[in-house]
Amino acid sequence: MEILILPTAAHAERLAARIVADRLTAKPNLVLGCATGRTMEGIYSELVRISQAEKLDYAHAHTFNLDEYVGLHSTDPRSYHHYMEEKLFAHVNLPREQTHLPNGVATDLTAEAASYERRIKAAGGIDLQLLGLGNSGHIGFNEPLSSLMSRTREKALTPQTREQNAGMFNGDPAQVPLHALTMGVGTILEAKEVIMVVTGAHKAEILATATEGPITSMVSATALQLHPHCHVFADEAAAATLVGREHYRWTFLNEPDWAPYQGLLG
Ligand code: GLP
Repeated sequence: MEILILPTAAHAERLAARIVADRLTAKPNLVLGCATGRTMEGIYSELVRISQAEKLDYAHAHTFNLDEYVGLHSTDPRSYHHYMEEKLFAHVNLPREQTHLPNGVATDLTAEAASYERRIKAAGGIDLQLLGLGNSGHIGFNEPLSSLMSRTREKALTPQTREQNAGMFNGDPAQVPLHALTMGVGTILEAKEVIMVVTGAHKAEILATATEGPITSMVSATALQLHPHCHVFADEAAAATLVGREHYRWTFLNEPDWAPYQGLLG
């Protein structure tokens, strides 16, 4: 795992979007793992800006989202289908049949989960997975005690997660669906590269637990410590309590892999 500390959330979002754009340019049939949530909004809007300015071609790309609420139809404005359409899909030339999200209204959710895993495999696996970090330490909707080897399946959402995501549901946690279909921790760990973006002072404590704490199924994001190619982009506010923050700042400024991206600090 590599942690990079960027001055602000906007810098972290810009860096993440730039890397997605670069990976797509290098591999036109990129399989991109998409996340949702507030953190991702800035990344998608920057990615759309870059995509239009540089005429990026998504004709051969595929996307797989981490999760979807159970019971929400794809046309529901609170669904992640709708989120992705609004934030990314409508603005780039990505054929809709190459975009994939779990179907939260499938009659057989177990079969849907298994078919989602098969679709990921058939596409050649995920090249780059974007992640946010839930307040409960979840990635996707892998709530505490999710097996670190779990696969796509239905999960119940904790009160903390329903509280965090109430914004789209009239601010009322009780209106947030109780269940979601989510990729498992094991599914996420199979992505060839992972970028987790964490911003804001409210994420400082859980970011420290996720990255510098022991690996535990109580905090599914700790499993990323096992991933051979995982980068965490944090802003100064989220990184404020990291024990190794001096080293992480040094990493971005000195590791050769990041030299091409120094300009984004300007
Ligand atoms: C939801 C999603 C997660 C996302 C998290 C972070 O719970 N299922 O994939 O990482 O939100 O949300 P935010 O970026 O709004 O803090």
